Amino acid sequence: MSLPPTSLPTDTPRIDGRAKVTGRAVYPADTAITGLAHAALVVSPVARGRLAAIDTAKAAALPGVLGVLTVDDVTGRIGLPRFGVAASSIAPLQDRLIRHDGEILAVVAAETAEIATEAAARVSFRIEAEAPATGFDDAGAETVAAADAAGRKDPGQGDIEAGFAVAEVCIEADYETPVQHHNALELYSTTAVWDGEGDQARLTVYEPSQNVNGWRHELARQLGIDPARVRVVAEFVGGAFGGKGPITARTALIAFAARHFGRPLRCVVSRAQGFTAGTHRAETRQRIRMGATRDGRITAFVHDGAEVTSRADPYLVGGNSVTARLYGYGAVQTKLSLVHADRPTPGYMRSPPEVPYVYALEQAMDEMAAALDMDPIDFRRRNDTATDPLSGKRYSSRMLMPCFDAAAKAFGWDRRDPVPGSMRDGDWVIGMGCAATVYPANIAAATARVRLAADGRVTVETASHELGTGIRTVVARMAAEVLDMAPERVTVRTGDSDLPPAPVSGGSNSTASVCSAVARAAEAVKADLFTRLTASEAAPFYGLDPATLRLRDGRIEAGGPYMALDAALEAAGLETISQTADFIPDGLKPDAVEKLRAGRTPMRGGGSGDLLRYAMGAEFAEIRINRRTLEIEVPRMTGAFAAGRIMNPLTARSQLIGGMIWGLSTALMEETELDRRAARVLNHDLENYLMPVNADIGQVDVILLDEDDRTGNPSGIKGLGELGNVGMSAAIANAIHHATGRRFRRLPIRIDRLF
Ligand code: MOS
Repeated sequence: MSLPPTSLPTDTPRIDGRAKVTGRAVYPADTAITGLAHAALVVSPVARGRLAAIDTAKAAALPGVLGVLTVDDVTGRIGLPRFGVAASSIAPLQDRLIRHDGEILAVVAAETAEIATEAAARVSFRIEAEAPATGFDDAGAETVAAADAAGRKDPGQGDIEAGFAVAEVCIEADYETPVQHHNALELYSTTAVWDGEGDQARLTVYEPSQNVNGWRHELARQLGIDPARVRVVAEFVGGAFGGKGPITARTALIAFAARHFGRPLRCVVSRAQGFTAGTHRAETRQRIRMGATRDGRITAFVHDGAEVTSRADPYLVGGNSVTARLYGYGAVQTKLSLVHADRPTPGYMRSPPEVPYVYALEQAMDEMAAALDMDPIDFRRRNDTATDPLSGKRYSSRMLMPCFDAAAKAFGWDRRDPVPGSMRDGDWVIGMGCAATVYPANIAAATARVRLAADGRVTVETASHELGTGIRTVVARMAAEVLDMAPERVTVRTGDSDLPPAPVSGGSNSTASVCSAVARAAEAVKADLFTRLTASEAAPFYGLDPATLRLRDGRIEAGGPYMALDAALEAAGLETISQTADFIPDGLKPDAVEKLRAGRTPMRGGGSGDLLRYAMGAEFAEIRINRRTLEIEVPRMTGAFAAGRIMNPLTARSQLIGGMIWGLSTALMEETELDRRAARVLNHDLENYLMPVNADIGQVDVILLDEDDRTGNPSGIKGLGELGNVGMSAAIANAIHHATGRRFRRLPIRIDRLF
């Protein structure tokens, strides 16, 4: 692994940590705005039907109400959202059709949030309801091949029947994963402020977002204005995880309402409404068939999946295209179906394809190992591969087994008695399980500006996003490293579409993409600085070859002589040196930055291009089940991970710990319960939507392995934000099998399913 060429500390505490814990960090819904009015949403309690009538008189009569917007006010006045940048093509208030639970029926604006909420409750309406389809198995749900619905190719390779013909042991199993909702601590919100009149009006939207640059363009398109007149600001985001990636219809609606009422307008979506105003992780059903020889070589692997989506959009995650390339299977076959139902369009949620599909694969791997009477780690080692079984392409680096070995050692896997149910502690049965975790090393085009001021301080600007991940800290570190100075001298600005465009903070691409652009901009500043310090007679290093200058520890050095940076700048009469740089990953077209400037995110996926680039890991869990109460406890989780150069072990560790805990949550707790007759969410609050609390979490150990893989970007960075939560659900399910001898293939595995 390439070490930073300086004496920078290995771990850098978050540069914005103090601002966050002291309340000085301004989240979008906290932005102080003069003359602010407040909006509340009226949403449909029916999932499918037609709005026959809506009566806003009682709401409008309430003192302090500015007005109520309904379908009559909005139809045809906002452009339809474009699925992709937008979360859904479903456009509320554009017609009288109702397509899902919680579809917006009206927007109420008032002087205070309390009045708006009260008025929203006074809006009455009549809906001609029809029986909805909730999802799988429901009358009226429409199943289509993903190949037809979304033009997807189902990956496969080799002769699957021949693969099964030579297999000596076969397994076949069905897996189910539930609907999940994000429930970031920070609620969804939009604050829209217009300045100026008519064609000259400018719109600023403060909203937690993972894509300020993309939203600016999509918002401008929906509102029919020039993108140059739109600004999206999200200085801090209180958790995102994909739910704040694509823009929802609400943003343009609130901006439209603000213009309509002639007031800055803020809408904070309630926790309950967030279950339908935002996106969700779709439920899946999967079937795996696997054949292997007695000595543990997989000869055939079939992974079929079905996912529920809305009527309108062919949203899919299709994680069987990830699982199909993970091991050296002989023959591979996959198929993906979509089920259209009367539901909101699902959306990205941390590791969207991997969470459901790698769960199924990694439990199937454990099942096959058990069928072969083989240690599950040995079984994986026997099927480890340096190449993709689908394309024959090489993995740029394959750290899966080193991760298993490191985690197994730290975890104490050798203490595991493989006989299910054999490890006990009084009333508690103990189980140990493990699973692989993977995430593609995605990388996107990005731009950044680095400015060196006369006082020797540095400012980095990029329209990336601080979602709680620590992006500002790693960006500061990258600039500090290139300019060889303490990270404390670097200020980082993100979360504003007026800054140099950066990609969507999704697919764990940000650290690799943005740091690559920042490194280039900082190099450009340094080159510019050295030129200026040597160019004119007044310059302090006049006559020297700029290539002989060094910037080290805040000083300019030229062989023997040196000068403090700020003194050198002053001597040369330099004010500010500012450079903007573009970064285009190899394999993307030269117009990638142009596309980025137009609001798109040209990205090279970890699975595309000449090599397969993945971050990998191995996750282990020990569980205990009480034989009398069936309580499940997870006293220990251990993960070992390889994700290229780790920019900041401190924040990387935090990300991975959070991910492992989310994996526990996926295994044992989280599920959005649906009323299947009504296609509605039942548990739309934090009391009934179960998530782990501190008392549910025991020891969590993270091991970071060295990996030097500079095939993806010059710094050798791979993202790891979505690496930690992928494997833990299977590790825990496998541990439950080890404890009980029973297989649970439907998540979450709650007490009631253990009976
Ligand atoms: Mo992540 S689901 O790519 O924001």
